[in-house]
Amino acid sequence: MLVLGIETSCDETAAAVVDEAGTIRSSVVSSQVDVHARYGGVVPELASRAHLALLPPVVGDALHGAGLGAEPGRAPVDVVAATVGPGLVGALLVGSSLAKGLAMAWEVPFVGVNHLEGHCFAALLDHLELRWPVVVVLVSGGHTMLLAMDGPGRYRLLGQTLDDAAGEAFDKVARFLGLGYPGGPAIERTAKAGDPTAFAFPRALLDQGFDLSFSGLKTAVVRAVRARPDASDADVAASFQQAVVDVLVAKGLRAAEAVGASGICLAGGVAANGALRAAFADACAAKGLALAVPSRAMCTDNAAMVAAAGAWQLTHLGPSPLDQPAEPGAGL
Ligand code: KG4
Ligand code: ZN
Repeated sequence: MLVLGIETSCDETAAAVVDEAGTIRSSVVSSQVDVHARYGGVVPELASRAHLALLPPVVGDALHGAGLGAEPGRAPVDVVAATVGPGLVGALLVGSSLAKGLAMAWEVPFVGVNHLEGHCFAALLDHLELRWPVVVVLVSGGHTMLLAMDGPGRYRLLGQTLDDAAGEAFDKVARFLGLGYPGGPAIERTAKAGDPTAFAFPRALLDQGFDLSFSGLKTAVVRAVRARPDASDADVAASFQQAVVDVLVAKGLRAAEAVGASGICLAGGVAANGALRAAFADACAAKGLALAVPSRAMCTDNAAMVAAAGAWQLTHLGPSPLDQPAEPGAGL
């Protein structure tokens, strides 16, 4: 079975071909960073328009990259999967409408995929041997969640952010420091030359439950910089990043212990962060927990994860109706 996956929930226009074994035959991601950078964040209407222009060639590249041509009368893939939520409604509509149109034209099933579930599948692509349950630390620009995963399609929400998502905190702090957009990679780069102990930023809710909060941390950074305008960006970035890492690692480990998990999966754009990956690697090794971390490219938004989730969904739950709506506020 070959699955064409399409992802357009935010500002990456992506298409990929994945087979039923989870092997990625092609994965194309066209970033809209240049479109949104001058505004310091994603402008929804501009994202929709850019998806409209970029998606057809991106799908063509993904099919071509997988060695699939458009032969008249023959569908190049067996199923078309697209993200239907959560995300920006106009952006979701562009991707899911094209996916439905292709499925109709090729007479193959359409599968609507939850973007958050896609991120969870990214962690599974290379680590299918995991013993359930595992704890998924899902940290992206729009979401920060701790999930107990009892298997594909079976998730229990243990805790989530009460305010900003982890990636949102990275983006806001980067913007405040004038480091550019997107903020996560900019903070990571800047932090390399800094001292993570230079500022004692707060670790909110560290000893309480599984919920998280990052808005106080962001405010603490602003206050600290205003009080010490001579402080180096590197020290501020490193101390901020360390505060986020400390909280996520502590909560992830506590969640794993609470649900008797065999390991931890990292997922979402913030999981591309080197300091976070290294801290989880050390912590899991010390506790005898398995750690599944997608490649950096599979952490940030991509369509291979959508195709992988779509393959599982088609096999276990069947196709989605062609009138499946976009669900901007979908949960997991
Ligand atoms: O998963 P994703 O690509 O899109 C959403 O579903 O939100 O995540 C994007 C977020 C952004 O906030 C971005 O700043 C953050 O992931 N991010 C990072 C890094 N790379 C991307 N945060 C920290 N360190 C990184 N290296
Ligand atoms: Zn995402």
